[in-house]
Amino acid sequence: MAHYLDTVPFSGIIRIRDMMYSVKDPFRLDQGDVSFDAPDTVKAAMHRAIDENRSHYLQTTGVPRLLELLAAKLRTRNGIPVAGVDEVMVTTGGIHALYLACQALLEPGDEVVIPDPTWPPCAGNVRAARAVPVPCPLHERLEWRYDFDELESKITPRTRAIYINSPHNPTGGVLRRSDVERVAAIVQRHGLWLLSDESYEDVIFDGEHVSPASLPGMHERTISLYTFSKTYAMTGLRLGYLAAHDAALRERMKKALFYTASNVTSVVQFGGIGALEGSQASVAACCRELQARRDLFYGGIASAAHGAFAGAPPRGAFYAFLRIDPQWQPPGGGHADSVSWTMAEYLITQGRIGCVPGVDFGANGEGYVRFCFARDRQELLGALDSMRALFTAPPARSPRAVP
Ligand SMILES: Cc1ncc(COP(=O)(O)O)c(C=O)c1O
Repeated sequence: MAHYLDTVPFSGIIRIRDMMYSVKDPFRLDQGDVSFDAPDTVKAAMHRAIDENRSHYLQTTGVPRLLELLAAKLRTRNGIPVAGVDEVMVTTGGIHALYLACQALLEPGDEVVIPDPTWPPCAGNVRAARAVPVPCPLHERLEWRYDFDELESKITPRTRAIYINSPHNPTGGVLRRSDVERVAAIVQRHGLWLLSDESYEDVIFDGEHVSPASLPGMHERTISLYTFSKTYAMTGLRLGYLAAHDAALRERMKKALFYTASNVTSVVQFGGIGALEGSQASVAACCRELQARRDLFYGGIASAAHGAFAGAPPRGAFYAFLRIDPQWQPPGGGHADSVSWTMAEYLITQGRIGCVPGVDFGANGEGYVRFCFARDRQELLGALDSMRALFTAPPARSPRAVP
């Protein structure tokens, strides 16, 4: 029996999702899904693939045309010196890319330094490879970036890799070029691997996205991880990819890919070709709209929540990771041990507002709550209205019944 899997936790996001099902007319600011639909270029390519009976097995690492397009994108947009299509692998979403990387790279007991807070499947995937996630705080006072001496202090003789994610879920922090150079220097100095999760590379409001594997000597020791989910609003279609130079590692990842999926769903891969061959106008347009939604949400939240939340607007991704006023108490009191969970349950059950407790992303996230502002403007405004009613309610009033 694979007892070790009992120690791999499910994300608290699942508990939240279950709670949301009991809420009528919810504001779904809990899940990291955009309200946009996949562009027509993707849908037309998938229709065509169905009409052409593209319903058969494919090459394990991806259909050749998609691999060619991805290699070209990685070279030109990310600046990664990808030598050929062999260095690219198509996966069932970004989460699968990370799974393959962890399975191929890690030995039982290896340590991987991960951000705290972090996207929960990061720690889960490290554990699923029987390795040990070692949290390193990101600091709000540093715009949710690292203290790099602290990052280096987490390295021990057991450290195999550092996982970074920029732009970052859940905080929206974006690493600067100089930060990426510091990470690269640490990785090289200690002979480590870098897992670079660039899922939100196209959602940057301020600054630039720097792919670590574009720096000298870094493609050789980096597994670069990507997804179509956020860039092309394809979350349910499950299409991701990775780039790696090391041949032995790629061979292992290919085995993990084969034994988990055989190949990624054919029609979806053709949708990916449509996305890359078509106009990229929707990518920039979505980013502009997300920035407007960010500003709308941050513009309203201070007054709507009467100071219950604080925090600066993020420079990337589409999450508001807000500090909860430590003085805040729900009517009737909450969890003694977690203000994050108290706030999340209050917002969900009393205000129909989906959110995720910060502590679900790591101990350093306690005292925070995450809202996704990639929902449409009406939904964001509805959530703010609901908050207004919730936080102006006199403390003695008994909570509204769950609708
Ligand atoms: C940081 C990060 N990495 C990877 C992913 C993977 O996304 P998917 O598996 O939908 O492609 C997500 C999704 O929310 C994410 O937030």
